[in-house]
Amino acid sequence: MRESIGILWRNWRFCNHNNMECRELTQRKDELQENLGFLEKVKEKKEFSMLLDSLVLRVSKKAKEDVKGTRALLRKYFTVFLTNKLLNGKLAPEEMLDKHISSKNRDYQKLYERILNPSETVIDLGAGVNGFSYSLMPLHTKYVAIEATGQLVVLMNDYFKKNKFDSRAVHLDVFDLDEVANIIKNQKKPRIVLMFNIIDALEFFEKDYSKKLLIKIKELLSSGERIIISFPTQSLSGKTKFHTTRKWLMDFLEENFSIVDTFEENGEKFIVLEK
Ligand SMILES: C[S@@+](CC[C@H](N)C(=O)[O-])C[C@H]1O[C@@H](n2cnc3c(N)ncnc32)[C@H](O)[C@@H]1O
Repeated sequence: MRESIGILWRNWRFCNHNNMECRELTQRKDELQENLGFLEKVKEKKEFSMLLDSLVLRVSKKAKEDVKGTRALLRKYFTVFLTNKLLNGKLAPEEMLDKHISSKNRDYQKLYERILNPSETVIDLGAGVNGFSYSLMPLHTKYVAIEATGQLVVLMNDYFKKNKFDSRAVHLDVFDLDEVANIIKNQKKPRIVLMFNIIDALEFFEKDYSKKLLIKIKELLSSGERIIISFPTQSLSGKTKFHTTRKWLMDFLEENFSIVDTFEENGEKFIVLEK
């Protein structure tokens, strides 16, 4: 966006201000400038400073473009998982996993023994801090994290580099379907796509987006390659048990995929899918 306003500004300066095309350009430039002002305001707070612009703007639509409302939703869906301890980068990998609300109850060793095989490429959508579990993945795993929170992307990439792990984290919005598809397409086979505890956030911002995403991923996978979805069966704090069956999701999965395994571990349900 910051680049496109430069191009727009230049085109606008040199256009003929009486014609229709130029009036449209003026309107577009004003809208972009307004968005930039809004983004700057929201991102003044450090916790939101490294969120993707596209994502902040999408969230702002849900909050009727109100700065406070936008920050409240961003906190709920993105930064609630972050603590200062987690962000200062001084924790050991297992402590990183322990300090993130979404991963702290997971037994990664047991989980990976059940769902991963050696020499696979793992593409993790909305990865959180999962990259810090790399050393628990099977031998010769290549790991690619896609994550909207810039601070986590930086922390994971520092960790991968320091340990020379065959991994990287990409700062990307999962709603950028073409780019997500490109990343999956370009990875070495066999691939496995993880979508742990992310469906609710996707559905909040766009109903049925997870279905669209799953169908797109299905098109890209070869037979035997897998998608693994998880969702909480209790609140992330562990205090409340949910009674939701997510029938809409289960019906969709049964209709469109072959469900090869389902299991529940520590308040989280996992569903393993093949095309
Ligand atoms: C509940 S956490 C789950 C983290 C991890 N998958 C796990 O289960 O431990 C949701 C994560 O998804 C990320 N996220 C949510 N929406 C996203 C989007 N549209 N694009 C990229 N990341 C997103 C959030 O920043 C957050 O780190």
